Amino acid sequence: MDALARIWPAFGLRIGCGPLQLAAVRDDDVPVLVDLAAGGIHDPGEMPFAVPWSTVPLPALAPAMATYYWRQRAAFEPDSWSLDLVVRHQSTVVGVQGFGTRDYPVTRTGETGSWLGREHQGRGIGTLMRQTMCAFLFDHLDAAEVTSAAFTDNPASLAVSRKVGYADNGLSRERRQDVLAHSQRLTLTADAFVRPPYPLAIEGLDAFRRFIGLNGPGG
Ligand SMILES: CC(C)(COP(=O)(O)OP(=O)(O)OC[C@H]1O[C@@H](n2cnc3c(N)ncnc32)[C@H](O)[C@@H]1OP(=O)(O)O)[C@@H](O)C(=O)NCCC(=O)NCCS
Repeated sequence: MDALARIWPAFGLRIGCGPLQLAAVRDDDVPVLVDLAAGGIHDPGEMPFAVPWSTVPLPALAPAMATYYWRQRAAFEPDSWSLDLVVRHQSTVVGVQGFGTRDYPVTRTGETGSWLGREHQGRGIGTLMRQTMCAFLFDHLDAAEVTSAAFTDNPASLAVSRKVGYADNGLSRERRQDVLAHSQRLTLTADAFVRPPYPLAIEGLDAFRRFIGLNGPGG
């Protein structure tokens, strides 16, 4: 374990699942993620994100992404935290799989969010990285449920949620680029979860569980 991971256990987490490796976004990953995002995540006429960060032009996108990840880390509290994992597919950085929660020791729930560079979409990676995160949450962080949300005009994200076993949980009315958009809320429980086709290989689990106030070693 490196020195930084000893004081910030999120940096010691490594989650492998078949061809995927997930690890907390480090500063060295940020320029790679900036290039990936600048290469395009969606059609110019689409907006999958409530905060439309993906259309910020490159000179401003780079510091905006860096400060986003620094802010997420700085706001990390043992019971209310978010974890942004850089996703590598056969060693190539392809995108980010995130999870955010509040009052986790009591609620045991939180929401996933993700994106892939355009050239890596439509090959099953989005499904596998969501399954990986959910398996980590249910099997190793004692989650009771996992939620997601996608605008109703985002068929790829909704298809991933349905394949992974999430059930619809109502629509919410959201402001998106100053216009009303409907967001499909989704909830996944362990009994409905369609697990990934590969076992998880996890490093740094016990230190991370202690970091977020969970007792005892994980499964
Ligand atoms: C959402 C995202 C992470 C999914 O990852 P992915 O690797 O493309 O997803 P997969 O290849 O695993 O699966 C995509 C599914 O969507 C389906 N799909 C894609 N476009 C579709 C469309 N226009 N209509 C219907 N289904 C569609 C695919 O057919 C596939 O389902 P199938 O395997 O049953 O055929 C990725 O597309 C992405 O980054 N999109 C832009 C950012 C985003 O929307 N993030 C989520 C915000 S809520």
